[in-house]
Parts: sequence; structure tokens; C-alpha cells
Amino acid sequence: MSKNAKTLVNTVRGGGRALINTLFRVYYEEKKNPRNNVVKKYKVYRILFLKLKFNTVYSTNKVFKVDKDGNKRLVTNKKELFKYLNKVSGENNTIIIPDTDLLNLTVPHIFGSNNIINISKIEKLTNICVEIYGNSSQLLVGSIKFFAGVHFRINGNDKKIIVGDDCMFSSGVEIWTGDAHPIYDLATGERINNDQDVIIGNYVWIGRNASIHKGAVIPDGCVVGANSFVTHKFEEPNTIIAGTPAKVIKRNIRWER
Ligand SMILES: CC(C)(COP(=O)(O)OP(=O)(O)OC[C@H]1O[C@@H](n2cnc3c(N)ncnc32)[C@H](O)[C@@H]1OP(=O)(O)O)[C@@H](O)C(=O)NCCC(=O)NCCS
Repeated sequence: MSKNAKTLVNTVRGGGRALINTLFRVYYEEKKNPRNNVVKKYKVYRILFLKLKFNTVYSTNKVFKVDKDGNKRLVTNKKELFKYLNKVSGENNTIIIPDTDLLNLTVPHIFGSNNIINISKIEKLTNICVEIYGNSSQLLVGSIKFFAGVHFRINGNDKKIIVGDDCMFSSGVEIWTGDAHPIYDLATGERINNDQDVIIGNYVWIGRNASIHKGAVIPDGCVVGANSFVTHKFEEPNTIIAGTPAKVIKRNIRWER
């Protein structure tokens, strides 16, 4: 029995997700190796891989589309599902999105299980990209006025990004719950840059290329200046928050689209 075949047999005993990961690796290793009978093995691994992917990823992860009257439809069409689950490697994730052509959602990357993406409503063509690295996290977005281009990245388990109603985001907006790589205190060995939730209130306008980072809270009616880096919890509504690090630069404002 080859080394790869042994690994496969062992992982079958191990369980679903581990099996998929191993199959993925073995499939690409075999494909790369010119000494193998590529065509034959390629076909076998491909069939096995797709079957397993369908059994675990496509059956445990759910996509719902909600029409303008609030009726929720479970997506079962394989081609449609592929658009949303192609880059999902965990189980029991739920994606709930409005049933409209106004949403341009780049295939979500979800590396983990039990996560939720819930986007309520959209008024104008909106571009969203989502990455989730961890388990049991949530991206909850209210009724969207317009997002020109936003990248949500959730790092960590049990983390949340919450965006209220009627927000407007410019292009190049980055909203992250973490730094993607850990940093440790040399003396204690403790992690110093823990992942944290990001909360954005209602009717918030975020300028182009702004980054809203771990721990940030932006209250209702605020404006975030272009290229700002927001890391603090702000409490005062109707302010302009700008700069790096972002600070309140104006108070008692109101903005219009
Ligand atoms: C935040 C913003 C709305 C503020 O506009 P404003 O009320 O006219 O503010 P001002 O130009 O009077 O600036 C006030 C102070 O804040 C500073 N400031 C303004 N915007 C800033 C920003 N994005 N980053 C850092 N500092 C900023 C100014 O330099 C000025 O500092 P000073 O008092 O030391 O001179 C504007 O600067 C901005 O960033 N707009 C985003 C536009 C955008 O992205 N549009 C996309 C369309 S959706």
C-alpha cells in the first residue's frame, strides 16, 4: 500500500473534515508527481473528492435567499450553491442574503464551522467580500444603502462584525476583527493582539480605503474619513472620526447621500 493510500485509510477512520483535507492534499500531490499514472489516479481522487465535498460541505452548510417580502428560500440548486460554497471548508455554516442582483458577493471563504453571514437588504449595487477564519462567528449586516467595496475578515472564534441599518461604505473599506497573525509578550508568552468584535451603528458613512479594525465601535450617524485606521471604541454619535489612529475631528454633524 502506498504512503498516500495509508494516510487515506487512517483519515477515513478519523472523520469528515480531516478526510477532506487529506484528500485535497493527496489529490494535488498525485497530480504533481510525473511518475504516477496521472489520468487514472486523477479521476479516482477527483470523484472521491467531489463526492465527499458534496456529502459534507454541500449538505451541512446552508444558503438562504430572502425576497423583498421576507420569504426565505433554501438554495438547493447545485450550480447556485457552488457560487456560495465553493470556498467553504467547514460544516454547519449559514449564509442568508437578499435575493437580488444588487448584491455582488465574492465567493465567501469560510475556514471553520457554525459561522453565520446574514445580510438583510440592499438599496444599490453593492460589492462585498467575506473571509471567516474560525468557528461560531457572525457577520450581521443590516439594510445597506450602498457599499462600493468592502472586505469583511473575521479572525478568531465567537467573533462578530455587526453593521447597522442604512450605512454607506466607499471603496477599499476593510473591516477586520483581528490582525491575522498572533503577537506574543516575550516575558509572559501571552498573546497581546487578541481578536475582538467590530460594531458599526446605523447610518454610518465610511470613506474610501478606511480600515475599521479589531475592537472598533462606531456610533450612529458618524462619518469615517478616507484612509483612516479606526481601532478605538467611540461613544458619541454624529461625529466625524478620522486619521491614523482615528480621532473625533468634528462633532454634531449630519451627512446625506
Ligand atoms: C472626513 C471628511 C468628510 C472631513 O471633511 P471636512 O469636514 O471638510 O473636514 P476638514 O477638511 O475641515 O478637516 C478637518 C481636520 O481633519 C483633518 N482630516 C480631514 N479628513 C481627514 C482624514 N481622512 N484623515 C485624517 N485627517 C483628516 C484635516 O486635515 C483637518 O485637520 P486640521 O484641523 O488639523 O487642519 C473628509 O476629509 C473625508 O475624508 N472624506 C471622505 C471622502 C470619501 O471617501 N468619499 C467617497 C465617496 S463614498
